Amino acid sequence: MTDHSADVRIAATGLFTPQHSISNAELVTAFNAYVEKFNADNEAAISAGEIQPLQKSSAEFIEKASGIKSRYVLDKDGILDIDRMAPHIKPRPNSELSVLAEMAVNAAREAMRAADVKAADIDGVICAASNLQRAYPAIAVEIQDALGIGGFAFDMNVACASATFGIETGLGLIRAGSRRILMVNPEICSAHLNFRDRDSHFIFGDVCTAVILERNDREPAGESWEILGTRLKTQFSNNIRNNFGFLNRCEREDGDGAEDPSDPFTDKLFIQEGRKVFKEVVPMVSELISNHLADLDIAPETVKRFWLHQANLSMNDFISRRVLGREATREEAPVVLDEYANTSSAGSIIAFHKHRAGIASGDIGVICGFGAGYSAGSVIVRKTA
Ligand code: COA
Repeated sequence: MTDHSADVRIAATGLFTPQHSISNAELVTAFNAYVEKFNADNEAAISAGEIQPLQKSSAEFIEKASGIKSRYVLDKDGILDIDRMAPHIKPRPNSELSVLAEMAVNAAREAMRAADVKAADIDGVICAASNLQRAYPAIAVEIQDALGIGGFAFDMNVACASATFGIETGLGLIRAGSRRILMVNPEICSAHLNFRDRDSHFIFGDVCTAVILERNDREPAGESWEILGTRLKTQFSNNIRNNFGFLNRCEREDGDGAEDPSDPFTDKLFIQEGRKVFKEVVPMVSELISNHLADLDIAPETVKRFWLHQANLSMNDFISRRVLGREATREEAPVVLDEYANTSSAGSIIAFHKHRAGIASGDIGVICGFGAGYSAGSVIVRKTA
């Protein structure tokens, strides 16, 4: 392997996990009760062939198709209420800390403690996430204010790849003169998920991760993960999409714009062509990682750990098999998807946060996020302390 001069490192990570967890069995019980009620309420139209009856979901299918067993959520009751099927997340007045910022502050505090840094030691905040709760002011500026950080802050959204794009952006800012950047990924995926859609109602959960990036010029306070390289890739696709946005107001007023006119909100939530995503994203991500490793002269078999985006277990198995030329062990490609489900941008960082024990100084790992856009980011790190 060539010698790389790594001028920026990951000094610490933090994780905020909501209190409530929903098992597949609980989710499916609520979904199936909704289906029974819908079919009973619409019996006449179904008998007349005007509408199709809804089909039930199954916990076995969910685990087999995705690897997901449960998900953490900010609010459990609203999601399991068959007359609602959406979390209760009360709007807060502008004078209160917004919910997305609150999650990020929690995750950030853990990361700051682990890196032994104070607000005054941080020069900038990046909030990189799929679902930002408003257009402006930036959530990142609110987080910056809540933590008492100086400098600057901004939001960015590259869907499930946001954290890896955030790491490359933070690295660039440090090379441009900042000492230290806090990068956070608050994800309230449950609020953008259609819990009435059998194909996708099980996919997502809520969480927030935080990463401290710093110039590699002091004795590390705790761990140190030098960034050997980052690489980003995007390729346009409509196969994962969320049409929520401020132009929805114009569509509503004009009475058009919805894919399904009987439910004008449906396409403002998460929609995907899951099979196409699977088929197209696996080769894109495996090539990205393989080429990135080859260009840094790192043999794939010497990589100790792959902290991959957590969307689908077989997708991850395919990717690591393509990169390694064999099955990866669970130790080599850890899974948090079973407990957390897909948490969008946060998934690969949760895996990195929870599964880095047993890696020795000098060992190399790959953090990789991928998803809508399509978008994918690879971050190659070497443990040095
Ligand atoms: N319960 C029971 N059966 C279900 C079901 C549910 N909740 N949802 C779908 N099915 C059935 C379908 O009706 C279909 O039945 P049929 O073969 O008799 O028609 C069968 O399961 C397969 O459906 P399909 O939607 O093609 O499932 P799949 O095997 O492709 O798995 C995903 C679905 C979403 C798990 C999978 O496509 C996937 O993970 N893709 C990638 C998703 C991803 O990473 N997205 C990124 C988001 S950031």
